Amino acid sequence: MARKKITVIGAGHVGATVAQLVAYKQLGDVCLIDVVDGLPQGKALDLLESAPLENFDSRVVGTNDYADTDGSDIVVITAGLARKPGMTREDLRDKNAGIVKSCCEEVIKHSPDCFMIVVTNPLDTMTYVAKKYTGLDKSRIVGMAGVLDSTRFRSFIATELDVSMEDVSATVLGLHGEDMVPMPRLSSVAGIPITELLPKEKIDEMVERTKFGGAEIVKLLKTGSAYYAPGASVVNMVESVLLEKNRLVAAAAYLEGEYGIDGLFMGVPVKLGAKGVEQVVELNLTDEEKAALHKSAEAVKHSMESLKV
Ligand code: LAC
Repeated sequence: MARKKITVIGAGHVGATVAQLVAYKQLGDVCLIDVVDGLPQGKALDLLESAPLENFDSRVVGTNDYADTDGSDIVVITAGLARKPGMTREDLRDKNAGIVKSCCEEVIKHSPDCFMIVVTNPLDTMTYVAKKYTGLDKSRIVGMAGVLDSTRFRSFIATELDVSMEDVSATVLGLHGEDMVPMPRLSSVAGIPITELLPKEKIDEMVERTKFGGAEIVKLLKTGSAYYAPGASVVNMVESVLLEKNRLVAAAAYLEGEYGIDGLFMGVPVKLGAKGVEQVVELNLTDEEKAALHKSAEAVKHSMESLKV
């Protein structure tokens, strides 16, 4: 079987973390590309030099030339500006849309059959921009955010209850922003709903912390945004596709009527497998959850309507 090829666009912290995890897990060869001369080359070489210690044989290439991305199975777009303290993800919208557009126009010429994962913020809107400029089918493109928002919620739950991270699962739907929809009713420890294990006030507190999880890291770092958890979230999705695991995860998928929402990307449960997005899973939501999801969709729509690309 030919080795898989994973291209990561943007050699910043998130891109480099994705490249590292892909190599360490031996999911395939890695091509790291960036507009800055030397940055992807330096990080790729540094990563490759760790191979004898970490025992991987993935080829790792850093480049500024899209010709090197040729024939990628997976393309991850992390290129774009990150938030500074006090900024919302929406503040990045127009600049990052221009960046995502130009990356997409180039990469799709070389990998027309790729599966694409978009990470650039504001996530749901940038995934829409990427679909527009790649022309990819909706089964071949998603935005990474639900896995990240869920892993944050999971880590808070596990820490609070002092139970293994492994046993905690959590569902966070909606857009990747303040209007995201963490769902305690669908979050559990070894199958036991957290609503049975924690008082409402504590759950409410963790829900709020999850909604502002990205901003909490930005405020601490002062010079950029999170990358360990975002990088791990991307690779979790890459793994589900390349290893045909059919994991059920939350991701920004293109909706055409599901949940009564049409023509935009937003976080919903999807099945990720060999073909990409194999299924959008529709849940029976409570009225309150439905209202929250629709509020989220309105915010995405507003962001898309304000786009200047
Ligand atoms: C975050 C950024 C990556 O949530 O959106 O950390």
